Amino acid sequence: MALSDFLADLDALAAEAEAAFASAADGETLEEARVKFLGAKSGRLKEVQKGIASVDKADKPAAGKRFNEVKTLIGDAYDAARVKWEQSTKTAGTAAAFDVSVPGARPRLGRLHPITQTIAELTDIMGRLGFTVTEGPEVEDLWHNFEALNIPLEHPARDPLDNFYLAAAGAASGKRLLRSQTSTVQIRAMERMKPPLRIISLGRVYRPDTADATHYPMFHQIEGLLIDRHVTMADLKSVLRLFARSYFEDDVHIRFRPSFFPFTEPSVEVDMSWHDKWIEMGGAGMVDPNVLESVGYDPDEVTGFAFGLGIERVCARRHAVTDIREFYKNDVRFLHQF
Ligand code: DAH
Repeated sequence: MALSDFLADLDALAAEAEAAFASAADGETLEEARVKFLGAKSGRLKEVQKGIASVDKADKPAAGKRFNEVKTLIGDAYDAARVKWEQSTKTAGTAAAFDVSVPGARPRLGRLHPITQTIAELTDIMGRLGFTVTEGPEVEDLWHNFEALNIPLEHPARDPLDNFYLAAAGAASGKRLLRSQTSTVQIRAMERMKPPLRIISLGRVYRPDTADATHYPMFHQIEGLLIDRHVTMADLKSVLRLFARSYFEDDVHIRFRPSFFPFTEPSVEVDMSWHDKWIEMGGAGMVDPNVLESVGYDPDEVTGFAFGLGIERVCARRHAVTDIREFYKNDVRFLHQF
């Protein structure tokens, strides 16, 4: 066989195979074409290959080289046709699988921050006990944050390392700070109103603490103040117990431990027990006569109790959050659970 005839056969075969692959309309036809041209036993390529045996010995290398090229060419043409067909079935597949009766994906709705939700709930509970909400500024003066609360100038609680004093020019420097406690609002309320008084105040407070699982430089407190005639520690305890039982919707126990706060006498640390664990919730006590005097109340006429609890603490406790930093990471995966 002449080399030129062999090469012509190869070219004709390549053209024919390419056309067959390209025009195959479905997987079955494509597979038939593959067997016809590339089939290992009796494919057309195999058939043409036999021609190499009869070309002149000197032409054999050229014949073999061209044969390999054409073999690759036809193989590639087949692969391309196969990929094209597979992709077309994929798009067709999704179109067929589209079910108009399946409910749509619900858009994620935003929700109130867990602390905001807790504030609303605590306000509601205390409202039912007759306490109304009062507010005070987060930037405070020394009178409301310290002096009127019986915290004199030399008291360690006023240390610059424990407070966020605001920088200001000259004499104004150190005269204002981010409030370190909501007890400031007790003073503001008493300055404005005559006894009897039943108020709560919920809001942010600031302390230069390093953030860890139980501390954060900004957190929230709920402050309560009741002033009337003949108020006792027993009133304080029953109000706090009712409050805790309403919030935890369970048989929560209250424990008082002796403590000290400049603005109460006696002072106690309030613990609550739920699911057999005691946890510190904040401080409380009977309002110190010095505080009553500082706002012009007569300590012989009226007495009262006050308390200040950490809102992150009660919220974390109820929802089994073990690290209060979670509240302020703004991670929607966390926030979405509330
Ligand atoms: N202000 C206190 C604090 O931040 C908490 C506190 C203690 C508030 C006793 C009170 C109180 O009203 O009576 O640590």
